[in-house]
Amino acid sequence: MIDDDKKAAAVAAVAEVRDGMLVGLGTGSTAAFAIRTLGERVALGLQIRAVVTSEASGKLARELGIEILDFAAIAQVDLTIDGADEIDARCFAIKGAGGAMLREKIVAASSARMVVIADGSKRVDRIGAAKLPVEVLPFASAYVMRALTDTGAAPVIRHNYRTDQGNLVVDCHFATLEDPRATATTLAAIPGILGHGLFLDEVDAAYIATSGVVTRLERTGASD
Ligand code: 5RP
Repeated sequence: MIDDDKKAAAVAAVAEVRDGMLVGLGTGSTAAFAIRTLGERVALGLQIRAVVTSEASGKLARELGIEILDFAAIAQVDLTIDGADEIDARCFAIKGAGGAMLREKIVAASSARMVVIADGSKRVDRIGAAKLPVEVLPFASAYVMRALTDTGAAPVIRHNYRTDQGNLVVDCHFATLEDPRATATTLAAIPGILGHGLFLDEVDAAYIATSGVVTRLERTGASD
C-alpha cells in the first residue's frame, strides 16, 4: 500500500527530530503522515516548535497540539521534512503538485537540514517527467504564459487554483529536463514568476519507502 510506504518514510524522518528543535513542516499527503507522527511524539512529551509551509499543514499541526511559529520571524530552521513529486540520486527534486513550492523552498532554504519523504513511486533515475509547477503573479499571467511558451515549457494554468498567497500556478512540461540548473536559471529570470518546483540545492537527504522497506539517500556533494 502506497499509504503504508508514505507513513514508513515519514516515521523514519521524524526519528531525526530531537527535543528543542525548530522543525519545518512540509505540505501534501506524505508530509501529513510526518505531521501526524510528530503530533504523536509531542503528545508523549517531545518538546519542539514548528513552522509550516501551507495553511493546510498549519491547521493539521495545530489540531495535533504542535506549537506553530510565524515563519516571518524565523531566520533558521533546524530540520524540515517534506514530500516530493520526483526525487533522484542527486537529491534533485520536483515539488509543487500541492502548490506550496514557494513557501516550501523558502523554508527548505532556511533549514540546516532538509529531508524529503516519499513512497517508491517518486524515486526516478533523473527528475523531469513530472510536471514542473511555477507560481505566477496574476498581474503577469499573460506575459509569463508567453515567455514560458517561448522556452518550450508547454505551460498550463492550474484550473480554479490559487496558492496560499493568492497567486496562480502554471504547470509546465518540458520535453526534456537534461539541464535542470539551466531551466531553473531561465525560470528565475522571467519577471512575474515568483517561484518554481525545481529543488536542486535544498534537499540533504531522502527517506524512500518501497513495500515497507525504507532506504535513506544522502546528498554526497556537489551535483549538476
Ligand atoms: C506540495 C508538494 C508535495 O510535497 C508534493 O506534491 C508531494 O505530495 P504528496 O506527498 O501528496 O504526493 O510539493 O507543494
